[in-house]
Amino acid sequence: MTEIIKGNVIHTTRLGELTCFEGGWLVSVDGVIAYVGQTLPEEYVGLPVTDYGDMLVLQSFADMHLHGAQYPMLATGLDLPLMDWLTAYAFPTESRMADNDYARMVYRKLVRELLDNGTTRVAMFASLHDEATLILMEEMEAAGLTGYVGKVNMDRNNHVLLQETTEESKASTLRWLEGCRKFKNVKPILTPRFTPSCTDELMAWLGETARERDLYVHSHLSENDKEMELVAQLHPDCSQYWETYDKFGLWKDHTIMAHCVHSDARERKAMRDHNVLAVHCPDSNNNICSGVAPVRILLEEGNWVALGSDISGGAHLPMLEVMAIAVSTSKTRCMMTGDRPLNAAEAYYLATTAGHCYFGDQPGFAPGNPLHAVVVDDSSIGVPGDHLPLAERLERLFYRAKSEHIKAVYSAGRKVKGE
Ligand code: GUN
Ligand code: FE
Repeated sequence: MTEIIKGNVIHTTRLGELTCFEGGWLVSVDGVIAYVGQTLPEEYVGLPVTDYGDMLVLQSFADMHLHGAQYPMLATGLDLPLMDWLTAYAFPTESRMADNDYARMVYRKLVRELLDNGTTRVAMFASLHDEATLILMEEMEAAGLTGYVGKVNMDRNNHVLLQETTEESKASTLRWLEGCRKFKNVKPILTPRFTPSCTDELMAWLGETARERDLYVHSHLSENDKEMELVAQLHPDCSQYWETYDKFGLWKDHTIMAHCVHSDARERKAMRDHNVLAVHCPDSNNNICSGVAPVRILLEEGNWVALGSDISGGAHLPMLEVMAIAVSTSKTRCMMTGDRPLNAAEAYYLATTAGHCYFGDQPGFAPGNPLHAVVVDDSSIGVPGDHLPLAERLERLFYRAKSEHIKAVYSAGRKVKGE
């Protein structure tokens, strides 16, 4: 089927660069982008058009690090730093996913809220429960949210309400991987919670499983000073945090590492050398007192960086809001260190193209990419007749748009919001 969209198209193929087509066109054939540009190619003229008038047609958002099982506590319990916060709030909340009915209710609502806010691709932690993780994946597949989901592995230093033995963790992972075979647009990713939560035996088994089954890995890195002290104690043979993953075959192409707030030059180089994705989670870094990440340095050195909401360390699910926080946090960093802050175009790149490329896309609305797009009606925002340039209208959305302004969402070619 050919879908022809008309509107003010804004995409980004390079960090900091916007390509805007005022009254432009976006064409997909069988869910795959065939054309983007200012004029409609001859071959499509005369076919039915979905005309969005003066609305903005943007790339959809990729949230590259969030914890689905923490959705029930979103925007609460933000008064403790990471390690205390995990024990007091995150672990007890995640433990409730032992109840499959509860998990289905929570995950259905989460998936709807993500799509309503224009997030169509994710890399998401579930919880240690394999059945509830499959329920999350079922809800995603049914609603049209795509991406990677992980059953969390955590066999030490945990909580009386949330624990698994090494053997249980392995068996549960195998059951979950078996259950994942039925999904088309939702894929498994191995998810050791972080080094302090996993025994060497479990880490080694996960590394072996990643290699044998050709799976990607998702975890946390150098987020917080107390966490890093613990990692150093647990692995005296490793001079840096990343080596605790590398030692077990978990540090490899497409490994996702959330936070990287305190990664130094050597750790950043190790990420580049192995094509590891660093996910910047600015709201969470503020809320649970981890620090102000060196995003500009990571970008200037050529690291691969995308954006994550990290709910519920992060208290904002909409990626438009996460972009605003990324910009403002980068200004805090600028005042501390002089690092040049992020601008709106850069934040848009991090929330879209940088994440979409994880899934094999070419930058921007490139022909060949599956169609992931959002349509935003900003006519009720601002002052009538203000005639702002498209780049400024995009920036304004970060601060002023709500899900009601998002009129349509396309995910992998399927319309998942709007008539
Ligand atoms: N490190 C280990 N687990 C977590 C988590 O749930 N949230 C965050 N922000 N960091 C973690
Ligand atoms: Fe996290």
